[in-house]
Amino acid sequence: MINFALMGTGRIGKLHASIINDHPEANLKYVYDIDTSSAKKIAKKYSCEVAKTAKEAISSDQINAILIASATPTHTDYIALGAECNKAILCEKPIDLDINKVNKCWQKIKKYKPTIQIGFNRRFDPNHNKVQSEVLSGKIGKIEMIVITSRDPSPPGIDYLKQSGGIFRDCSIHDFDLARFILNNDPIVEVFAQGSVNVSNDFKITNDYDTTMCFMKSKKGVLVHINNSRRAVYGYDQRLEVFGSNGMLISDNVPNNDINYYNQNLSFAKKPIKNFFIERYKDAYQIQLDQFIKSIKNKKNTSVTFKDGKNALILANSATKSVVSNKVVKPKFQL
Ligand SMILES: NC(=O)c1ccc[n+]([C@@H]2O[C@H](COP(=O)([O-])OP(=O)(O)OC[C@H]3O[C@@H](n4cnc5c(N)ncnc54)[C@H](O)[C@@H]3O)[C@@H](O)[C@H]2O)c1
Repeated sequence: MINFALMGTGRIGKLHASIINDHPEANLKYVYDIDTSSAKKIAKKYSCEVAKTAKEAISSDQINAILIASATPTHTDYIALGAECNKAILCEKPIDLDINKVNKCWQKIKKYKPTIQIGFNRRFDPNHNKVQSEVLSGKIGKIEMIVITSRDPSPPGIDYLKQSGGIFRDCSIHDFDLARFILNNDPIVEVFAQGSVNVSNDFKITNDYDTTMCFMKSKKGVLVHINNSRRAVYGYDQRLEVFGSNGMLISDNVPNNDINYYNQNLSFAKKPIKNFFIERYKDAYQIQLDQFIKSIKNKKNTSVTFKDGKNALILANSATKSVVSNKVVKPKFQL
């Protein structure tokens, strides 16, 4: 049994608490949140303890692993403490918004050789994951293009936007990681991004964009296109297409059911697609936790490393630089 301390019981923390609780080899032992009432609610629901401090939860000899789902600026401190206390670490994306903090964190923890996994859950979505394994098996020949569409149903409020780090670090970071996952060992060498404000004036106020396109090129010449929007009136639009010399693979939106409805005005009509990440990627979050537990038990490397977290941030920073400068940026991967 792997005993967990969960840091943060907000939107995604609540989901992780339920997933830990449902996993046959996991036990939720502690929760910690600066919002004590939120932590207490989760503790009551899953019969676990509320830690008085972050340190009490992370350093407890009753836990083997921490799941960090608290606000982004807390991640590097909790990772460092977790590594120092010899705990396995599953940390939500991004590691941090500031690459210097990410580098300093790595310098602190590398001597402990921690078991650490970053929460790029899309890699574990059964359909996206199948596309990647089919690409690797050579099913569509030599890959030539990757097209990723990722559009949120509606924009967050201005308070969230002020601390989000911008759309590339907040949203597209998942897509940068997904592109890297498909490309496997073929690094991205060029990034060019464009952005517009179509959805809300909040994005102008915060110097951000709600509509973006990013074009990238890999070392082997694969062209990658990522398009993001903060508002899709029809739901959470998540599609992945990989085009190769012998065919194409598509991981499409997932309908709520597979029934087609017909009448005088409609053919092939379906229920709307899933609303947002909690519904769309529930399986992916469960498989992510399961893989993390397997890595701990089998003493094997995790499948999404600290370096993956850092490299996705480097691509997000490159896109941010490109949209401001209107120039192609060559990302510098260092680790
Ligand atoms: N992988 C995904 O699909 C995904 C989806 C959403 C959010 N996230 C990431 O998860 C993290 C949390 O996002 P959220 O949407 O749940 O945010 P949220 O604001 O709903 O929750 C954050 C929680 O952290 C708590 N918190 C703040 N400071 C803390 C501290 N010092 N110690 C402990 N708890 C603290 C807050 O009180 C709050 O309950 C962010 O890093 C975000 O980027 C990932």
